[in-house]
Amino acid sequence: MTDNMLSQTVLNLNESASLKAAALAQKLISEGRKIINFSIGEPDFNTPDAPSLEAIKAITMGKTHYSNPQGNLDLREAICEKLHRDNALEYSTDEIIVGSGGKHIIYHAFLATINPDDEVIVPSPYWVSYPDIASLCGGKPVIVQPDPISLKLTSTVLEKSITAKTKWIVLNSPSNPTGAVYTENELQAIAEVLRKHPHVLVLSDEIYEKFVYPPAKHVSLINVAPDLKERTLLVNGASKGYAMTGWRIGFGAGSTTLVAAIKKLISQTTTCPSSISQEAAKVAFSETQPSIMMRDSFQNRRDEAVTILSTSELLGDIRKPEGAFYLFLNLENVVGKKTVTGKVLNRDDDVVEFLLEEANVSTVSGSAYGFSPYLRISFACSVEQIREGCQAVVNALASLKS
Ligand SMILES: Cc1ncc(COP(=O)(O)O)c(C=O)c1O
Repeated sequence: MTDNMLSQTVLNLNESASLKAAALAQKLISEGRKIINFSIGEPDFNTPDAPSLEAIKAITMGKTHYSNPQGNLDLREAICEKLHRDNALEYSTDEIIVGSGGKHIIYHAFLATINPDDEVIVPSPYWVSYPDIASLCGGKPVIVQPDPISLKLTSTVLEKSITAKTKWIVLNSPSNPTGAVYTENELQAIAEVLRKHPHVLVLSDEIYEKFVYPPAKHVSLINVAPDLKERTLLVNGASKGYAMTGWRIGFGAGSTTLVAAIKKLISQTTTCPSSISQEAAKVAFSETQPSIMMRDSFQNRRDEAVTILSTSELLGDIRKPEGAFYLFLNLENVVGKKTVTGKVLNRDDDVVEFLLEEANVSTVSGSAYGFSPYLRISFACSVEQIREGCQAVVNALASLKS
């Protein structure tokens, strides 16, 4: 079969840039290159024992059949309890939909609501998948620029971007790739704008909720604007906060109409999330300790990485991320510089290639997140790798000439 037999939809679709970078790093490692993988988008911790043991129990007890497409009732009860305990939010089980990962929920939510040419406001820098999922569902991603210092969406920009065709606005706090965390005041200002536009739905992606570094704290849009609950879909899941990326469990909390529509779609696509993973996630969502241990560890690694990278003159003042496990580095003093072999680094993609060659470090360029010239470094790896990799980045940058 040749490419011209593929659908226009697939031909137009980009492969996830972060998954692609991580896969390239893995390939080079398997070929014997000693690469430090800073492009990784998942905790390097193993899934905690309690959910893993629950999954084994589920298998031995034969809980291996199809489930309700919406997710098992007891898992949805555990999710309601988690939202009550951790987020001070009240949801009933019919307002919860469980999917095979947060990405799956976002895809089905867009599929359930977007008509051709509906607009989806995606603040940049954005997680790589939002624009592509919106396009895949027939929508038009509208990329909007952030505040240049905080790299967050402002209420003024939001106000200017909403049109009669706006269907969704995407909010992601803590953010991938910047690690920015929205404050109560910032969310209040956004909520004020949204109140004037009742036709706009809100995707509140809170998948990195568990990794927020004090004194910052996680606040959901619904905490500050409960009146927007009916048109907000809160997305979260087991992947990041519970080190369960491979188990593929995510959930959405929102209006019963949207939940029922997503359930109908899931019944015709994946049928239901894995029954075994559901049993594991039920236990994971009721535990808080493993997430706290991971958060404290990520905070130390963040500080270690920032300390080392700050010694590079070319990186200037590094913004310390308040959440998630990514550093988003400004490359404006790096682009335009020449390597010792005379190659000019014109774009952030060139810097990524240079660091892979010269520093044996795999990163992802800002262009993948719609914001250049920047570089994303994941610090979800060991302290030793952070020390070695960040020092290698500093050394490689020091070799560049004007
Ligand atoms: C911002 C953001 N949202 C959602 C997801 C999806 O996570 P999952 O599908 O594993 O639940 C990711 C994964 O990288 C992410 O970074």
